[in-house]
Amino acid sequence: MNSQIVEVPATQWQLPATNSNWINALEQGKVLYFPTLPFTLGEAEQTLLTPAVLEENVRNISLAAENQLKGAAGDEHTKVLLTQMLKRYRTQSAQLIYSLLPKYKGALRCAPTSYRPKTVEARKQSWRADDRRMHVDAFPSRPNRGERILRVFSNVNPDGVPRVWRVGEPFADMVETMLPRCKPYVGWQAKALNKLGITKSLRSEYDHFMLQLHDNMKADMNYQQQAKQITMPFASGSVWVCFSDHALHGVESGQYMMEQTFHIAPEDQYNPNISPLAHLSQVMQRPLV
Ligand code: SIN
Ligand code: FE
Repeated sequence: MNSQIVEVPATQWQLPATNSNWINALEQGKVLYFPTLPFTLGEAEQTLLTPAVLEENVRNISLAAENQLKGAAGDEHTKVLLTQMLKRYRTQSAQLIYSLLPKYKGALRCAPTSYRPKTVEARKQSWRADDRRMHVDAFPSRPNRGERILRVFSNVNPDGVPRVWRVGEPFADMVETMLPRCKPYVGWQAKALNKLGITKSLRSEYDHFMLQLHDNMKADMNYQQQAKQITMPFASGSVWVCFSDHALHGVESGQYMMEQTFHIAPEDQYNPNISPLAHLSQVMQRPLV
């Protein structure tokens, strides 16, 4: 199972060269781990290493692609520092992704950048929202019709505390176990959810099954404990990258993480035939979007 993680010995965000093994591993749903690639905070930015920068009752601070800052408490100076730190993270993440996957240039859509200063262990959430349980990312209100979710994470913990993830079995193996438990798609229900504004656009059959897989995995404590998995401590001063709609993951512990999301259409991948949409369509023998 160790093979679900592939290490990349890079020390710069602009990789001097890429490698088809890394590209294939990523597109196959593995996690690329860069153990020696820190995201460095400036001296003034060190003051942001406290959960006190969060507004009450929020989990993350985010910077939308158009640069609006959300979730931050504190004075203007703090907000300027946060914006600067998040923008730099976005720039460096794009540099990393474009040097790792040059073909993605021009095809990526930038989603918000986030900073997560809270301790994972302190979270209180419903089982469905609890990212400590292994899952693939699928969002109830934001259908994506198979568009990929590519994420760049960095542990910026100043005290050397790792961010510990559990990384699960390959997507296809999980689908074999979970798909028989998924409820069928009901077209009129999807239309009603859209009309009521519960979803931002029409939930496709693909989106329905991704949510069902997400929920069925999280609901099954036996699966959570017994399914093949490895516990992976991502060191402070490291980066990891994965397609989070494809790589099974759950977070056990840690504090202070940066995250950048990008989206890409599966047609624009190196191998357009490897994606959750391609796999589910093949298993179900019909188009799902
Ligand atoms: C996630 O499940 O995408 C969150 C992971 C984390 O907070 O480390
Ligand atoms: Fe997740």
